[in-house]
Amino acid sequence: MQTLQKLSLPSMGCGTWAWGNQLLWGYDESMDDQLQAVFNLCVSNGVTLFDTGDSYGTGRLNGRSELLLGRFSQEYVGSGKENICIATKLAAYPWRWTRQSMIKACKSSAQRLGRNVDLVQMHWSTANYAPWQEGGLLDGLADLYEQGLVIGVGLSNYGPKRLKQVQKKFAERGISISTLQVQYSLLSTYPVTQLKLKDLCDELGIKLIAYSPLALGLLTGKYSEQGPLPKGIRGLLFRQILPGMRSLLACLQEVAQSRNKTMSQVAINWCICKGTIPIPGAKSVEQGRENIGALGWQLDSSEIAELDRAAANADKKMVQNIFQTK
Ligand SMILES: NC(=O)c1ccc[n+]([C@@H]2O[C@H](COP(=O)([O-])OP(=O)(O)OC[C@H]3O[C@@H](n4cnc5c(N)ncnc54)[C@H](OP(=O)(O)O)[C@@H]3O)[C@@H](O)[C@H]2O)c1
Repeated sequence: MQTLQKLSLPSMGCGTWAWGNQLLWGYDESMDDQLQAVFNLCVSNGVTLFDTGDSYGTGRLNGRSELLLGRFSQEYVGSGKENICIATKLAAYPWRWTRQSMIKACKSSAQRLGRNVDLVQMHWSTANYAPWQEGGLLDGLADLYEQGLVIGVGLSNYGPKRLKQVQKKFAERGISISTLQVQYSLLSTYPVTQLKLKDLCDELGIKLIAYSPLALGLLTGKYSEQGPLPKGIRGLLFRQILPGMRSLLACLQEVAQSRNKTMSQVAINWCICKGTIPIPGAKSVEQGRENIGALGWQLDSSEIAELDRAAANADKKMVQNIFQTK
C-alpha cells in the first residue's frame, strides 16, 4: 500500500538542482537551513516528491543534493513523512557502462540519502553520441527494480523513438516505466507540441514530469530586459530570451492579475493543467510558499488557450537540453 501510494505521485513535486550546484546556481552551504525549511514546508503541504540527481553537486560538493535531501527527510517531523518520495537520476557518465555500475551508483545514492531511492531515473540517453553504452545502463536500471532496490524506474530527456524502444526492452522483463521527465514549460513546449510525448506517455501509462517549469526563473516575471540578471550562463541566456518573450510575459501577467495569483503560480498551474507533474526548484521559503500556491485551483480552458497562443508566438524559447533525444 505504502509502495503504491508513493509512486502514485502528487500533482506537483520539488526540484533540488540548486541544492549543491555552486557553478550553475550560486549555491553555498549557508543556504542549507533555508533549503531545509523549504523541504519541511513542501512535505507539510502535501508536496512529497523530490527530484535530485547523483550529478547534482560537483567537485567539493559532490553528491551534496542527495546528502541534503537524505538529512532533511530523516529530520522531518510532521505530517506526510511516510509519503516522501525521493527520485534520483543516475548520470550516464562515460565511465559508467556496465549494469553493475548502475547498481553501484544507485547504492551510493542510497548511502548519501541514508535510505533507499524510491524512483530511479536514467538521467539521459547516450543514443546520440555513444549508443553502445546504453544497453548496459538500461539493463542495470531494470536490475535495480528486480532486486527490490527501488520502487519504480523512470527516464529523463528521452524522446518518443527511444522511449518506445526502452519500453519494449523493459516489457520483455515485465517491468513498467513509471515516469519520464523532460524540460516542459510555457517557454519549452517542444517535448509535447512537437515530440508528442504526453500522448505517448498516456498511451504507455507513464507519468510525465515537467522539469524547469519556470524556465529557470524567467516565467516568474522578476527578470526583465533592464536587469538585474543572474550571474554567469543563466544571465547570458536570459539576456537572449527576454526580448522575444514580452508578449508571453504580458499574457502571464494579465491572467495572474485576473486570478489574483502570481505569474509563477500561473506558469506552474499551466503545467498541471496539461497533465504533467511540475517540479519547480525553490531556493527560499518565500519561493516555496508561492509555488505551493499553484495547487488547489485550475486555469480554465480559455486562459489555457490564451497562454498556449502566447507561448507559440514567443520568438525565443528555452534551449533544449543537449541530451534530449528524438
Ligand atoms: N532531467 C534533467 O536533465 C533536469 C534538468 C534541469 C532541471 N531538472 C530538475 O528540475 C528541477 C527544477 O528545474 P530548475 O531549477 O532548472 O528550473 P525552474 O524550476 O524553472 O526554476 C527554478 C529557479 O527559479 C527561481 N524561482 C523559483 N520559484 C520562484 C518564485 N516563486 N519566485 C521567484 N523566483 C523563483 C529560483 O531561482 P532564482 O531565485 O535564482 O531566480 C529557482 O532556483 C531541478 O531542481 C531538477 O530537479 C532536471
